[in-house]
Amino acid sequence: MYVPKNVYTNKDLMKYMDTSDEWIQERTGIKERRFAERNGETTTTMGVEAAKIAIERAGITPQEIDFIVFATLSPDYYFPGCGVLVQRAMKMNEIGALDVRNQCSGFIYALSVADQFIRTGTYKNILVIGSEKHSFGLDLSTRGRNISVIFGDGAGAVVLQPTSKGNGILSTHLHSDGNSAETLAMYNPGTHANHWTDTKLADFNDAELADMFMSHDMVEKGQNFPYMDGQAVFKKAILTFPEVIMEPLSANGYQPKDLSMLIPHQANLRISQFVQQKMGLRDEQVYNNIHRYGNTTAASVPIALCEAWEEGKIKENDIVCLAAFGSGFTWASALIKW
Ligand SMILES: CC(C)(COP(=O)(O)OP(=O)(O)OC[C@H]1O[C@@H](n2cnc3c(N)ncnc32)[C@H](O)[C@@H]1OP(=O)(O)O)[C@@H](O)C(=O)NCCC(=O)NCCS
Repeated sequence: MYVPKNVYTNKDLMKYMDTSDEWIQERTGIKERRFAERNGETTTTMGVEAAKIAIERAGITPQEIDFIVFATLSPDYYFPGCGVLVQRAMKMNEIGALDVRNQCSGFIYALSVADQFIRTGTYKNILVIGSEKHSFGLDLSTRGRNISVIFGDGAGAVVLQPTSKGNGILSTHLHSDGNSAETLAMYNPGTHANHWTDTKLADFNDAELADMFMSHDMVEKGQNFPYMDGQAVFKKAILTFPEVIMEPLSANGYQPKDLSMLIPHQANLRISQFVQQKMGLRDEQVYNNIHRYGNTTAASVPIALCEAWEEGKIKENDIVCLAAFGSGFTWASALIKW
């Protein structure tokens, strides 16, 4: 994992918007988050820093990586994706590089894709990265406070390899429901030209119709920032998380009590606490670090996985579940015998 050195506490955010430490902690559990350097640090460079550690720990070199899967919602460029920038920055061979756009579930979707290539024997060393530079795309004024206080920057990476020991990824499970696509979304830049007006799910339709990705009107109305209906997201998340955690447990003959560690996407501490309670999990079965990093979207699962492992909380043969829910809506899980 890699997180930028700049720490922004809740009190620091009060310099930009009308909010309070109490409000943020009570509703989200977040105390502080990291924001990348404005210049010189990008979603890709943070991903590369995490990747260097993952590759070193895997005992290989960047030239031995034979496929890259990069999950992010905050890419360096609208196109091309971050995967090719990693390939260039790490002087890798001319291998495949795939970008995954599944927001908070992005890392687990990416892992699932990598898992299929490993299972078919197509590739031997796949680099999977989740990285976000949210700070570049947040409305830090009071207008954007319901969403901007939640997000932070950072990156996590893993190297996936085949194993013959019976451990590894047992199964992955992917879901989506596009009916709520506008509930948590960044509409612009995009080609929608207000086409989805009948959804009535969001307030993006009052910007003048543009015949290009981005117009001055959109910028003036703050429609270049993400939109979130927080309560709708919360309600769906607490229904979906327990289901998507039970799915791999049932598929592999396990019960919640058999879980050594649940690594939930760090969306909101209240969501994780609700899920823990609903599933009857003990404190030591659930890893939370949202208080230090906020929600880092595609990076949150690999960052939490890395910290849990570094703290000795994940050991060989442990049953570990990764689970995420977010924009799309999409949700996903992976069960791993470590
Ligand atoms: C975003 C979230 C924390 C907001 O909490 P909430 O209890 O739903 O709060 P509301 O949006 O109803 O707003 C309550 C009040 O707080 C205010 N408020 C919103 N953001 C605020 C902030 N950062 N600081 C202070 N006040 C804030 C609102 O303006 C509103 O004021 P009003 O009652 O005077 O109108 C909560 O909905 C949530 O956690 N949702 C899930 C979000 C999530 O997990 N997203 C990531 C998914 S991957």
